[in-house]
Amino acid sequence: MHRSLQGSSVNTPSRISSRVRRIKPSPSTSAADRANELRRQGKSIVNLVVGEPDFDTPAHIRRAATEAMDKGATRYTLMSGTVELRQAIVAKLKRENGLDYAMNEIIVTSGAKSAIYNAFAVTVEPGDEVIIPAPYWVSYPDMVIACEGQPVIVACPEANGFKLTAAQLEAAITPRTRWLLINSPSNPTGASYTAAEYRALADVLLKHPHVMVMTDDIYEHIRFDGETTAHILAVEPALRDRTLVVNGVSKTYAMTGWRIGFAAGPADLVTAMDTLLSQTSGNCCSVSQAAATMALNGDQSFVAESVAVYKQRRDRTLANINAIPGLSCATPPGAFYLYINCSDLIGKKTPAGKPLQQDGDVVMYLLENAGVATVAGTAYGLSPYFRLSIATSIENLDEGCKRIAGAVAELH
Ligand SMILES: Cc1ncc(COP(=O)(O)O)c(C=O)c1O
Repeated sequence: MHRSLQGSSVNTPSRISSRVRRIKPSPSTSAADRANELRRQGKSIVNLVVGEPDFDTPAHIRRAATEAMDKGATRYTLMSGTVELRQAIVAKLKRENGLDYAMNEIIVTSGAKSAIYNAFAVTVEPGDEVIIPAPYWVSYPDMVIACEGQPVIVACPEANGFKLTAAQLEAAITPRTRWLLINSPSNPTGASYTAAEYRALADVLLKHPHVMVMTDDIYEHIRFDGETTAHILAVEPALRDRTLVVNGVSKTYAMTGWRIGFAAGPADLVTAMDTLLSQTSGNCCSVSQAAATMALNGDQSFVAESVAVYKQRRDRTLANINAIPGLSCATPPGAFYLYINCSDLIGKKTPAGKPLQQDGDVVMYLLENAGVATVAGTAYGLSPYFRLSIATSIENLDEGCKRIAGAVAELH
């Protein structure tokens, strides 16, 4: 359970820094905690919160880890990652993204999350602005705040495919802008930028050389429309000196627990991250690095197989949700979430007479009355929506949709 970071009483000054007191616990973790608590109380809960693959890590990757342990890969590695893993990352970026990087432009981190945070930590001065298109992954604004930066949230409505337009980007840039953050396919909407859309954004960025670009590519392979995920750097190589490419093995290879992510970018930036990490956490787990090397270099058939399963779930759950009067969901081209529009439910009353005033009320109603755990759109910066994860069994998804339909039908 998360606890308050405030002082224990109004008269006791908090011993927690104001920097950390400004950030909040992850809303998806809080939602999962609440669902688990209700489950412990004996309630039947369908948990559609969790944003991680429900598959086991493929056997050949697990085997690489045990073999590495048996061969003695149990010691510190180079801070920036083993030579083998960084070579695998260089090869991956070339093969899959058409990007050229040298070994000293790559750093291995404890998940993509650590790459993003540490990149902010080494670049953001107090008050520097980071442009974050909304809906966004919940952690971005808090990471910026933890580095004393200023998140600049730009609402990207459903009518624009939940994507940032060139005009919006132009309007959001100020002399204080440090970064533009791009996440494609996106958590929570699955929205994915096309090469043409990147071209328009790149044209704006070329006019503002002080703006750096961070791309969070963690869902690049989870695509349902047969498209290959475009990359802004492939579209506009001139942005290379101010772009940090962030990715990892967590989602593509069902390796969330192994904690391996990476960043590729200009050597000065990567070296600064290396310096900070060397003083704060040290290298990533040696055994996980061996597993990630196998993930990137080895048999890739798991990727297509798991995406085919996600697609079946997406198609079926999307149809079930869109059949519920009052709910609608645009077809996500990627990632493993549905971001469901619940604007028609706002203003309705629950059977107990409680009005639903915002998406948080809808989510609470679904949890308490129907036993379905989801996350409110407020967590992602665009309301009124709620997010449901399809990274769970079809049985769970079917049961969840049945319960949601029943609960929505009882509103008046
Ligand atoms: C958009 C996005 N970026 C990064 C991450 C974190 O990835 P990792 O587990 O590699 O730290 C997540 C996890 O939910 C995510 O949704």
